[in-house]
Amino acid sequence: MLKKTAAVSSLLILLFTPLSAYDLKSNMIQLGAELAEVQKSFIASDQKGVEVSIKRFSQHAQDLLGNKENFSAMLPKDKKHKANEAVMSAQIISHNVQIILDAIENKYNQSGIVRREESQRAYTYIEHACFRCHNIVRDKY
Ligand code: HEC
Repeated sequence: MLKKTAAVSSLLILLFTPLSAYDLKSNMIQLGAELAEVQKSFIASDQKGVEVSIKRFSQHAQDLLGNKENFSAMLPKDKKHKANEAVMSAQIISHNVQIILDAIENKYNQSGIVRREESQRAYTYIEHACFRCHNIVRDKY
């Protein structure tokens, strides 16, 4: 019985590993393109563009990174124990996305200059969170 379960689960792993690895890569490439749009809008001082692109990015970042079990399933076998750290990065990203969205809505009634600076800084923290997780999953320890 145990043997059979093991055989079935290794078959499942065999079936789903390449698919999820592909999923991860293609989703990440899309996330990278969406973040590049955000950067482009900030550089161009295009406020409307920031709003549109950060919302698109945010939705996708949450879907991809927000769920620990989902994300863990996409990680290579020897990296699964790093899913917690990975979720930390996801939280940093969503925290900073929120800062940008609040600034756009002027939630705290601040000057345009303050809001612009805070959202630009938040953008760099988002990038930093990407680097952070990539370091974690790529480092060989
Ligand atoms: C929770 C961990 C994690 C976070 C956060 C994360 N990534 Fe990734 N990323 C990965 C993993 C795992 C891979 C695939 C394995 C690898 O490339 O080493 C990957 C791969 C990629 C790739 C594809 C590289 C290739 O193979 O061509 C891109 C592009 C990318 N990420 C962009 C981003 C961007 C942009 C962000 C931030 C918004 C980000 N990632 C945040 C874990 C993460």
